[in-house]
Amino acid sequence: MQDTLILSIESSCDETAAAVVKNGREVLSNVIYSQIDIHTLYGGVVPEIASRKHIEKINQVVEEALRQAQLSLQDITAVAVTYGPGLVGALLVGVSAAKAIAFAAGKPLVGVHHIEGHICANYIDHPELKPPFHCLVVSGGHTHLVCVKDYGQYEILGRTRDDAAGEAFDKVARAIGLGYPGGPKIDRISNEGNPEAIDFPRARIEGSVYDFSFSGLKSAVLNYLNSCEMKGVAINRADVAASFQKAVIDVLVGHSMEAMEQSGEKIFAIAGGVASNTHLRAAMEQACEKRGITLYRPEPVFCTDNAAMIGVAGYYEYRNGVRHGWDLNAVPNLRLGDRI
Ligand code: KG4
Ligand code: ZN
Repeated sequence: MQDTLILSIESSCDETAAAVVKNGREVLSNVIYSQIDIHTLYGGVVPEIASRKHIEKINQVVEEALRQAQLSLQDITAVAVTYGPGLVGALLVGVSAAKAIAFAAGKPLVGVHHIEGHICANYIDHPELKPPFHCLVVSGGHTHLVCVKDYGQYEILGRTRDDAAGEAFDKVARAIGLGYPGGPKIDRISNEGNPEAIDFPRARIEGSVYDFSFSGLKSAVLNYLNSCEMKGVAINRADVAASFQKAVIDVLVGHSMEAMEQSGEKIFAIAGGVASNTHLRAAMEQACEKRGITLYRPEPVFCTDNAAMIGVAGYYEYRNGVRHGWDLNAVPNLRLGDRI
């Protein structure tokens, strides 16, 4: 059978990325231009700057992805692109580039949901993984507990009611002066802190066992910092980071394992930027092992935003017959399962 080669593009936030993926499982190239250095100056992602940087870099990363894969545009089967959710101006750059490339080369165009991409990152390097399974998606913009029923078929079991897990990491990191992006910095400094030092709240939502809420936890951290300041008590940043992180992880692991026990499902996966957190990975490993559950987690480079995951998701959408027209638009609030 002929190989299916997907050229994929991702530009939903602050990474300009392109990749080539073979048959939905093998990454031939994965090029990421991260804008983090620029946004760090402002303490977070500035949408207007993100869009402009995407425009500057998009052609370069696409050319580099093809070069590293040692392929020309004519060898490609289809072009896949993230069309939502994300920052509208940022998404538009990737969508416009993908449309232009696909049109010029006479290739089919496949729009991909960003969260579906994160979930599909688990198929990379794990040829044995097939639906059905459950997946926890934890990123800067999303916290979803999902039942992956089949390729391209998702049922959302729970979602955050307010802040996403990664957003909470970023806000707490800023409050304790660690800077942006907060996740990796909290991950690192926590190694020197005591996770039991401060008893931060673990929120449960009445009537929605799988939903999440992190804004109360974020406020509790801010209140703790304010009260220390007012009392003139020195703040141990490592203890605050470790205790906050433990509160997030307890809830993520708790909800996930409850869903696994209720469903009787034995395959679990994690995805998204926060899934690269070393403490979360270890806690999930332990919880799954205790219950005889097989755990999948992408390599850290495939957890944070990248185009390879979009190429994998694009492959399965392409195989399911999904084709988008030249009128494909960016959809900043695209929901998982929506079709345009
Ligand atoms: O998936 P991603 O790259 O972008 C979105 O789709 O949002 O996730 C970015 C988020 C940021 O909030 C970042 O702080 C968080 O993932 N993150 C982490 C770690 N690495 C990235 N959070 C906790 N621990 C980490 N090691
Ligand atoms: Zn993402």
